[in-house]
Amino acid sequence: MNHIQLKNISKIYNANSTQAQSALTLLAEGMDSIAVKEQTGYSVGLYDINLNIKAGELHCIMGLSGSGKSTLIRHLNRLIDPTSGEIWVNTTVNTKTHAKDNPQANTAPVDKRSSNAINILELNDKQLQHYRQQTVSMVFQHFGLVPHMTVIQNVAYGLRVRKMSVSERHEVARHWLNEVGLNNLEHSYPDELSGGMQQRVGLARALATDNPILLMDEAFSALDPLIRAQLQDQLLALQDRLNKTIVFITHDIDEAVKVGQRISILNGGRLIQTGTPSDLRHNPADDYVEQFMSAKA
Ligand SMILES: Nc1ncnc2c1ncn2[C@@H]1O[C@H](COP(=O)(O)OP(=O)(O)OP(=O)(O)O)[C@@H](O)[C@H]1O
Ligand SMILES: [Mg+2]
Repeated sequence: MNHIQLKNISKIYNANSTQAQSALTLLAEGMDSIAVKEQTGYSVGLYDINLNIKAGELHCIMGLSGSGKSTLIRHLNRLIDPTSGEIWVNTTVNTKTHAKDNPQANTAPVDKRSSNAINILELNDKQLQHYRQQTVSMVFQHFGLVPHMTVIQNVAYGLRVRKMSVSERHEVARHWLNEVGLNNLEHSYPDELSGGMQQRVGLARALATDNPILLMDEAFSALDPLIRAQLQDQLLALQDRLNKTIVFITHDIDEAVKVGQRISILNGGRLIQTGTPSDLRHNPADDYVEQFMSAKA
């Protein structure tokens, strides 16, 4: 079943709706985003993205710098609002009910007629706050830990809205630190940890919320290759058990092929192709996809 559906999402930066329309018209005629920027002065973040992300899949978003990856993922927790389009999220999916040992659960398709799916662009401030607390968590490229908080305080931070006592929050945080292999470091401060350890804390913090959707924007890109490979393995092992819906951004095709069940390739704000690594390798939609796949180590 689909967990997230993007329908005709376009994002033109720093333009009002009339200004954006001129850029969208040129894009509809097939002009590329660089030429649109030259002609109109507006930056194209995304153009007409239609993408379904399935519940429980690890979906990679791939593309060169400036292709729109961060723009896309930031729409999913509404750090960015689109110029046009809809974003439907099934808020009833949770990792407990669509676990692999319960294949009957959540088999209904998500679409606008389903009462389970909400268009997150229609949420008011309070509903959006609730959505961010209960549905989506983010792991940041540069870890985003609070420097004056200890490791356990950082991990427990996202739980402060959950009406739990401090000791309960710390118990949950301790569990997730253990899951990412960081027991015994709970009283350390972030700057006492290596980059790989800090990102494990970032991952534990996101997992501790128990939110079903995990957004990861270049989360491993700042790490050394060996540590990066270890975190990829750890993420895959966790995903195997937790069955979260993970949207994972990378510009590294090797990483995408290793972790992604499906990969979506962006170029100049357009979605070129979505498929399994094997689909992309055997049936690339264009030269851009083919070049990525042949560049794979
Ligand atoms: N706040 C902004 N204001 C104006 N233009 C922006 C803004 N953010 C992004 N853009 C433009 O939108 C396009 C897509 O940018 P985006 O950051 O989504 O790409 P990306 O694929 O994440 O790149 P990278 O790999 O470098 O992180 C680029 O042309 C960029 O210049
Ligand atoms: Mg980016």
